[in-house]
Amino acid sequence: MNIAILGTGDVGRSLAEGFARAGHRVTIGGRSAENDEVERHVRDRNLSDAVQYRDFPSAAEGCEIAVLCVAGAHALSVADAVRTAVRDKILIDVTNPLEFPDGKTLRLSVANDDSLSEQIQRTLPDTRVVKTLNTVNSHIMTHPRELGENHLMFVAGDDEEARTVVRNLLVESLGWSDVVDLGALTAARAMESYLHLWLQLWRSNGHARFNIALVSAPPP
Ligand SMILES: NC(=O)c1ccc[n+]([C@@H]2O[C@H](COP(=O)([O-])OP(=O)(O)OC[C@H]3O[C@@H](n4cnc5c(N)ncnc54)[C@H](OP(=O)(O)O)[C@@H]3O)[C@@H](O)[C@H]2O)c1
Repeated sequence: MNIAILGTGDVGRSLAEGFARAGHRVTIGGRSAENDEVERHVRDRNLSDAVQYRDFPSAAEGCEIAVLCVAGAHALSVADAVRTAVRDKILIDVTNPLEFPDGKTLRLSVANDDSLSEQIQRTLPDTRVVKTLNTVNSHIMTHPRELGENHLMFVAGDDEEARTVVRNLLVESLGWSDVVDLGALTAARAMESYLHLWLQLWRSNGHARFNIALVSAPPP
């Protein structure tokens, strides 16, 4: 599959490597036409045959699935920049609407009755947006088995078939086993709001390589 990774940060690099090692062709996108640091990163990992770098619109050109993983503040402008290329495609949204107004206290720039994912969906009405992977750190996204098998990933999106395609991609290409389908994209409100708890858990856990599991009684 041709996968466009729109973002060059920890998430973009981790997902590019994860999808490339699973046999996909990957194009990483950023603002500039060239990015020596990303290209060196790809070379150092012997991924040059499977991964290339382009600017955002060129990276999305010809993709089958796009993954949006830029800083939350720029998610809508980057979504708009790739609008034509992702028409009728699935766009996986990994972004979080994080702000730190005083440098340490988390504030979500959108919450309660809306989410960044829904804003992205409204920006791209002809694209099927699926929210996932935003609830774990970039390493765990592509190495879920390091935590065993019984920890949770979520998918949410308004198109059921798109949720299934993304769920299968997580299972078959990244090694996830427990992927919970939360239904419509309004569930992204909960997935983004979870970042408040994620941040507290990160502080008490001492590092970011963790996830949560659901412990449930049998049906009453
Ligand atoms: N880091 C994690 O472990 C983690 C985990 C879960 C979710 N997330 C979410 O995933 C997203 C990516 O996180 P990240 O840590 O990988 O990287 P990041 O530092 O949040 O974002 C890097 C990307 O943002 C782009 N960017 C920065 N300023 C921009 C601007 N003015 N206009 C357009 N694009 C701009 C950069 O473009 P250039 O390539 O041109 O520099 C780069 O591609 C975020 O929304 C984050 O909340 C992160």
